[in-house]
Amino acid sequence: MWKALFLLVLLALSPGADGLFRSLYRKAHVSRPRKGDPGQRLFLTPYIESGKLTKGRQLSLVPPFPGWNLTSYSGYITVNKTYNSNIFFWFFPAKIEPENAPVVLWLQGGPGGSSMFGLFVEHGPYIVSKNMTLFARDFPWTTTFSMLYVDNPVGTGFSFTDHVHGYAIDEDDVAQNLYSALIQFFELFSDYRDNDFYVTGESYAGKYVPAIAHYIHTLNPVTTMKINLKGIALGDAYSDPKSIIEGYPSFLFQIGLLDEQEKKYFQKQCNDCVKFIHQEKWLQAFELLDRLLDGGLISEPSYFQNVTGCSNYYNLLLCTEPEDQSYFGKFLSLPHVRQAIHVGNQTFSDGARVEKYLREDTVKSVKPWLTEIMNNYKVLIYNGQLDVIVAASLTERSLMAMDWKGSQKYKKAEKKVWKILKSDLEVAGYVRQVDNFCQVIVRGGGHILPYDQPLRSFDMINRFIFGRGWDPY
Ligand SMILES: *[C@@H]1O[C@H](CO)[C@@H](O)[C@H](O)[C@H]1NC(C)=O
Ligand SMILES: *[C@@H]1O[C@H](CO)[C@@H](O)[C@H](O)[C@H]1NC(C)=O
Ligand SMILES: *[C@@H]1O[C@H](CO)[C@@H](O)[C@H](O)[C@H]1NC(C)=O
Ligand SMILES: *[C@@H]1O[C@H](CO)[C@@H](O)[C@H](O)[C@H]1NC(C)=O
Ligand SMILES: *[C@@H]1O[C@H](CO)[C@@H](O)[C@H](O)[C@H]1NC(C)=O
Repeated sequence: MWKALFLLVLLALSPGADGLFRSLYRKAHVSRPRKGDPGQRLFLTPYIESGKLTKGRQLSLVPPFPGWNLTSYSGYITVNKTYNSNIFFWFFPAKIEPENAPVVLWLQGGPGGSSMFGLFVEHGPYIVSKNMTLFARDFPWTTTFSMLYVDNPVGTGFSFTDHVHGYAIDEDDVAQNLYSALIQFFELFSDYRDNDFYVTGESYAGKYVPAIAHYIHTLNPVTTMKINLKGIALGDAYSDPKSIIEGYPSFLFQIGLLDEQEKKYFQKQCNDCVKFIHQEKWLQAFELLDRLLDGGLISEPSYFQNVTGCSNYYNLLLCTEPEDQSYFGKFLSLPHVRQAIHVGNQTFSDGARVEKYLREDTVKSVKPWLTEIMNNYKVLIYNGQLDVIVAASLTERSLMAMDWKGSQKYKKAEKKVWKILKSDLEVAGYVRQVDNFCQVIVRGGGHILPYDQPLRSFDMINRFIFGRGWDPY
């Protein structure tokens, strides 16, 4: 009797079906505002188009939260008028020297993960506690960079579209909408236009980041309005699915998550998946992978969940996701918060529809675009050493399969031990550098790296962007 009751309570508390790189973003699901006045959505495109830039900027200013004195701006930029597609952004000018600080765009993965996750859980200035108070993060990236958090693609988080055809079905759609948002953003905030610009993101953003960077790279020479792109940073990146999928069976076996028999099954499934990819049978490849790993669009647990008993593949040491990673969802449903950030009663989407429309894209590679970016810009590719879903060794497989101008040097490059301070006994991670390219493995953290390792992540991104090298201080 007690056992049954206990189980019932547990069932009632457990989350629903999870999505590939989105499982935890989905738990942050906030459909509607709570009681109270959430204000109105702020659409900035009319101000940009009519040249009322000062007015637009003023309106987008986010009034400080109680006890805070921090300047930020947020609102909507219309990226496709036919479908009424709108992108939500939240911009934090750097604390130190905002007039010179690089502007860093952050894109969450998923597909369908809101960048509000990155802001509140990974590296924004605020941490939401269980009782909805805001705490200051110790090493926010907003200290040295002007951080631009964007809900991408439309249909993710607070971003929305009014039409089914407004959803992205491939990375071209993603890049086109994002580019429109960036061009308008830099018109509105023209003081930041000449600062260095970096595109960063993790997981499925391993596809978005090369897509938008390549789009900028292609358009810059032929447009008057240029974006000052200097480089990109990719964390635990899902850029080249094939090379990652091929590596799963032996990796999962080596870390003890699969036994011999399960490995054989996994191997067979992965072989079939890769076969579908070669045949460009994208949907079949997606469906197979979904059943095997993710269970995002099937109504039963995936094979991975069944054999490991765990729903979390973001950190080798954790079977479930830390509870505090979902507090921000409730925070974003509070009327006074919604009023402050100009989202009104807009539904906060869990990304399931975005994922549905990107199903075929899920198994396609952005390798050619990434190659061109590596040939022309600064690139950082990093992994949390404890990540499972895009493990360090799987990223290494992807890199070894790439042919770019530094490939030969990269294959021979010596790995360096990276410590933050000379006096540190602890090692922060490992680095291989070839010219403008850095590969970093950060110790002691998983997929959600800045959450697990705030200081190491902060040091890493600063060393990369400011070109400080990897010697201890
Ligand atoms: C808030 O910060 C601004 C500039 O950073 C400063 O001018 C202002 O006095 C501060 N206000 C309070 C109440 O601390
Ligand atoms: C809106 O999106 C559609 C589909 O991607 C595209 O064909 C069209 O050119 C877009 N319109 C604008 C104004 O960007
Ligand atoms: C909220 O929780 C924090 C600890 O997480 C505590 O310090 C604070 O006093 C609490 N605030 C309220 C209003 O309960
Ligand atoms: C996982 O286990 C459940 C319960 O036994 C089963 O219904 C489901 O088919 C399994 N999933 C896969 C992908 O094999
Ligand atoms: C939001 O509010 C407007 C009126 O301000 C209303 O027409 C609309 O239905 C509301 N939308 C949602 C999702 O509640």
